[in-house]
Amino acid sequence: MSRALATTTANASQPVPAGLDPARLPAHVAVIMDGNGRWAKQRNLPRVMGHREGVEALKRTLRLCSDWGIGALTAYAFSTENWSRPGEEVSFLMTLFERVLARELQALEQEQVRIRFLGDLEPLPEGLQRLIADATARTAANTGIHFNVCTNYGGRAELVRAARRLAERCAAGELDPAAIDEQSFSAELLTAGERDPDLLIRTSGERRISNFLLWQLAYAEIHITDVLWPDFDEAALLGALRDYQSRQRRFGGVDPC
Ligand code: IPE
Ligand code: IPE
Ligand code: MG
Repeated sequence: MSRALATTTANASQPVPAGLDPARLPAHVAVIMDGNGRWAKQRNLPRVMGHREGVEALKRTLRLCSDWGIGALTAYAFSTENWSRPGEEVSFLMTLFERVLARELQALEQEQVRIRFLGDLEPLPEGLQRLIADATARTAANTGIHFNVCTNYGGRAELVRAARRLAERCAAGELDPAAIDEQSFSAELLTAGERDPDLLIRTSGERRISNFLLWQLAYAEIHITDVLWPDFDEAALLGALRDYQSRQRRFGGVDPC
């Protein structure tokens, strides 16, 4: 890509590729990273090799989003329903999360990434929980991209947790039920403080949300691609961003023209 054809956004460290309007990039991209198992199967490899390759795709995506000045990336790494997979696959994933986090933490710190893990972290292996706490604390003051990794995350569980927390405050006399509104409800979600995703990308061609960010995706533009997650690369991300920029977002209103 010729640099002369590209423009840089205020937060971007690299030029945004030609064909994209730097002023209309999504501020927050969410991604359902699906198709690791099928990627491996196509190559006669065990499913877990797809997960290993999927880590590379996530690193690529994070780097590109950060380079182009996208403010937040939220990735679905492990759902509350994924515990139902064979024990060996679940243990492989937990060990993979631990290894990758330990290996990448220094680079994340240096590149000003602020990492957070969204989900019920208590059932995760203790070593992973310790690493998560360490990575969260060490990057909390970073000023770059917000990188949210949804781990043991379920949209319904998140909504139930928020409802319970509000109910507890009401029962304790701290909160008037009549004062509960969308703002106070979303402040109890795991994504509190993060704006809602503008763009949801789902790989591997599945046309479903699979219990991801049920509240936050209310007005997200949805891009579904047949690309399997381990193959997700710059061209695939560009395709998603171009698709996003071709949409007219109305939020229930009417076109201005
Ligand atoms: C997504 O890939 C990764 C996780 C859910 C952890 P899959 O493992 O679901 O891959 P497919 O859908 O079987 O191809
Ligand atoms: C969604 O993928 C969850 C993650 C990407 C972590 P799944 O493979 O679990 O979703 P379904 O089963 O196809 O709906
Ligand atoms: Mg899947």
